[in-house]
Amino acid sequence: MLPEKTTPSVGDDPRIAFFNGLANRWDTTGQDPHMTICQVASHADRLQLRSGNDLLEVGCGTGQLTGWLAEQVAPGRVVAIDFAAEMLDEARRKKIPAEFRCRDICRDDIGISCFDVVLCFHSFPHFRDPVAAIRNSTRSLRPVGRFLVMHLSSRTKINAFHHDVGSAVGGDRLPADGTWHQMLSEVGWKVHDLVDEEDLFFLEAARAT
Ligand SMILES: C[S@@+](CC[C@H](N)C(=O)[O-])C[C@H]1O[C@@H](n2cnc3c(N)ncnc32)[C@H](O)[C@@H]1O
Repeated sequence: MLPEKTTPSVGDDPRIAFFNGLANRWDTTGQDPHMTICQVASHADRLQLRSGNDLLEVGCGTGQLTGWLAEQVAPGRVVAIDFAAEMLDEARRKKIPAEFRCRDICRDDIGISCFDVVLCFHSFPHFRDPVAAIRNSTRSLRPVGRFLVMHLSSRTKINAFHHDVGSAVGGDRLPADGTWHQMLSEVGWKVHDLVDEEDLFFLEAARAT
């Protein structure tokens, strides 16, 4: 389905080893995955996922949200990518009706105009080259496609959390509003909606033309 690529290697980004090291306990530490789905579902009006949509989930991890996404868009398909192979192994064990692929969104061309929606859920701050990640993601979208970034927390809390975690993700940040506008305009996109509240960060972008 996606173009063949060489597997991202640990030397490409220290976060690969970091997330691989967490893979076998990702679903049992931190927030209950069921709670995560309930919270995301409460924002369905913003996500606006439609039956028949083809969706790319970027940084899917162990697929905590992937099954729910597949239910929302069926019979549309979900392609879920991550560059940490061990996170993907956990996801594949769940037998979710989605295509899981090992891809580095900062490096790999995902294909052109294949999807209606790209969702980066709890993943965007970790993309080492955010403009490349946006470029590769948005290229994969159809003409009226939507690019979404979502966190169940405010930008301030997310950024403080990563600072406290330290290690390979200690410097990972959700960008400031102005930076989003600038990065998106570099690739011919624009902010359509930007929400930064206590329990939600949500960005929706659309093509500028
Ligand atoms: C904080 S985890 C979130 C995982 C999942 N979305 C969840 O909510 O459980 C961030 C994920 O993004 C992935 N990631 C980070 N940088 C990436 C990149 N450049 N390309 C693909 N995946 C990446 C990591 O491997 C990790 O699985």
